Amino acid sequence: MGIKLNGKIISARNIHKSYFKKDSQNIEVLKGINIDIDLGLITLILGASGAGKSTLLHILSGLDKPDKGKILIDGVNLTSLNDEKISELRNKKIGFIFQFHHLLPEFTALENVSIPQMIGGKNLISANKKSKELLELVGLGNRIHHKPAELSGGEQQRVAVARALANNPKILFADEPTGNLDSKNGEVISELFKKINKELGLTILMVTHNKDLIRLSDRTLYMRDGLLHEEEK
Ligand SMILES: Nc1ncnc2c1ncn2[C@@H]1O[C@H](COP(=O)(O)OP(=O)(O)O)[C@@H](O)[C@H]1O
Ligand SMILES: [Mg+2]
Repeated sequence: MGIKLNGKIISARNIHKSYFKKDSQNIEVLKGINIDIDLGLITLILGASGAGKSTLLHILSGLDKPDKGKILIDGVNLTSLNDEKISELRNKKIGFIFQFHHLLPEFTALENVSIPQMIGGKNLISANKKSKELLELVGLGNRIHHKPAELSGGEQQRVAVARALANNPKILFADEPTGNLDSKNGEVISELFKKINKELGLTILMVTHNKDLIRLSDRTLYMRDGLLHEEEK
């Protein structure tokens, strides 16, 4: 623990990942990725559909494991942790936003944001207090008792953003966060990311095929042929 990161929140080296498909050839999706993510910045990874963006994001955030390679998150060697420790680290340090919000359908917006806090050890009252603040931050102060099905797609995604912020993460990962939204709602989510980055100083790593998001980012990397590149080509 406690390896000096020098302004880097994530440092990944030589990340490989293949999928083994029944009745077909294995596909090597990640072929030795190296990446450093700077604290406080919005980093964007752009790539075509199927390029391996989700695979990479899942691996960097501990949702999936690489076949080979090493990942440091906030000084902790993710690849040396057991599953229980990975879950704990994810709960404490990582916020994740999916293309499809992945909210729990039977719970209200407030409950969806409070649950990860309670898993992290908070009591209901303080969890709900924080959830209300976050739902206000994302502009849903008047929707807190609605269930996901009673919210629009854009509102659902904003609840997902509030949930991802619930435990004061060190880094926010977003996988095609505007991919399932119309352009107006996509714009609202984009502005929200900018606000979160500015006001909370939160580091954000986003992956997308949508070039419109380039204007949000401080640094853009391009994913192709299983590797990351500084230039589009
Ligand atoms: N669980 C899996 N099993 C087999 N193949 C997969 C699996 N997940 C992704 N793939 C394949 O890996 C490639 C990269 O997928 P993905 O990371 O989802 O790309 P992207 O997010 O850039 O669209 C695709 O060809 C996809 O079909
Ligand atoms: Mg994807």
